[in-house]
Amino acid sequence: MPARKIVVTSGKGGVGKTTVCCNLGVQLAQRGSRVVVADMDFGLNNADVALGVENRALYDILDAVEGRCRPKQALVQHPRCPQLYVLPSGRTLERYISPQAVRLVLDSLASQFDYILIDSPAGIEEGFHRAAACAEEALLVTTPHISALRDADRVAGMLKSYKFTRVGLVVNRVRKDLFRRGETLSPAAIADLLRLPLAGVVAEEDKVQLENVVYRSRAFRALAEACERGTAGRLA
Ligand SMILES: Nc1ncnc2c1ncn2[C@@H]1O[C@H](COP(=O)(O)OP(=O)(O)OP(=O)(O)O)[C@@H](O)[C@H]1O
Ligand SMILES: [Mg+2]
Repeated sequence: MPARKIVVTSGKGGVGKTTVCCNLGVQLAQRGSRVVVADMDFGLNNADVALGVENRALYDILDAVEGRCRPKQALVQHPRCPQLYVLPSGRTLERYISPQAVRLVLDSLASQFDYILIDSPAGIEEGFHRAAACAEEALLVTTPHISALRDADRVAGMLKSYKFTRVGLVVNRVRKDLFRRGETLSPAAIADLLRLPLAGVVAEEDKVQLENVVYRSRAFRALAEACERGTAGRLA
């Protein structure tokens, strides 16, 4: 079976797309899947930095798109998690890159992997559409803050036009004390508001150092299990 391609998206910036994408990738890989984290936040290369492999990259996704290397050559294997590969984003976004061109690169990798997780840029412009056009499933990340929810609602509407097979919600940076005091909505209430099934809930961590969170987070393991079971998101 070709890899399941899942885009991790949000609308609002800084809510935890890259954190969710990378941690989910590590968990799936540790559980035996072959995983690519494809960074489609062109120009900002975050995923390779988050996973600590930025110095190992020889090529990037743009090199593969523009034929300077084969797609597989652009992959960077994670040193501590050998089933996990990162496809770093291009270092620049000076020229137009079509969704079809990127899709071809990902499709050519699909037969050798179980999951391709696509980290998308903030916003709802070209980069969002390019990332969404490459996937069949989507995870929408939001925090409980009002400004993030407003953007998540807009993106949830836009995701409908992509006819994903599944769309699930991840609520990140949740603080139980705040929603118990009624200062923020609970994850369940946020899922109701956005009319999306809750795929994962991640607590606010004192210090998110990805390499640490990765290896001990129950929240991300639960999200990985939900993805494997196919319950991370409702069938569209
Ligand atoms: N659960 C969490 N608890 C505490 N800090 C977090 C949590 N999740 C993410 N962060 C921190 O928030 C910041 C933004 O996270 P991240 O880069 O994953 O967001 P993003 O949505 O990918 O941002 P961008 O839109 O810029 O790509 C990072 O410094 C990250 O460490
Ligand atoms: Mg990011």
